[in-house]
Amino acid sequence: MPDIKIQPRQDPSAVDRILRSLPEWFGVEEAILGYTASASRQESFLAVVNDMTVGVALLTRHFKESAELTLIAVDAKYRGRGVGKTLLEAMESALIIDGCQLLQVHTVGPSFEDAAYSQTRAFYRKFGFLPVQEFERIDWDGPTLVMVKLLIQKSAR
Ligand SMILES: CC(C)(COP(=O)(O)OP(=O)(O)OC[C@H]1O[C@@H](n2cnc3c(N)ncnc32)[C@H](O)[C@@H]1OP(=O)(O)O)[C@@H](O)C(=O)NCCC(=O)NCCS
Repeated sequence: MPDIKIQPRQDPSAVDRILRSLPEWFGVEEAILGYTASASRQESFLAVVNDMTVGVALLTRHFKESAELTLIAVDAKYRGRGVGKTLLEAMESALIIDGCQLLQVHTVGPSFEDAAYSQTRAFYRKFGFLPVQEFERIDWDGPTLVMVKLLIQKSAR
């Protein structure tokens, strides 16, 4: 398990590098450039291991009570080692402190068969996101699944 530090700051060039390490999810150049641009505009949390940015989560706060995880990605070499979980938990803690209660995420819907995005949906399910509705052509040319999670303050022991 690497020593993962979460930092609330932006690093668009690292985001570009991370997305290019994940061609099964981010294979379209236009999409990569769009996310990289967002990485310098949106609220950003970075996961840093040995001074290298290995994961990113971008956030948009739509209302005081609700926010959207607009991107989460972990460098291919660091997947499955707790980086995504640590990023998500840090972001959720920051939102809860600010009184935010709902977190939504958009991803590719299950009616479009794709092994990569099926893994993504499993990750979101594991962390308490529930499927709300599948929409056609809202983010891309196929189905988008909207998922939402109730943010609950963890009780102190
Ligand atoms: C999804 C992603 C952010 C998760 O980050 P990660 O660092 O790989 O995940 P973690 O190691 O923190 O896993 C945390 C938990 O989720 C589970 N999990 C991770 N990937 C999973 C998968 N593919 N299927 C099922 N469960 C999964 C792990 O089992 C782990 O559970 P544990 O804590 O009980 O062991 C990362 O794998 C990624 O970048 N994927 C490709 C890009 C992507 O899907 N982005 C979202 C696009 S909408």
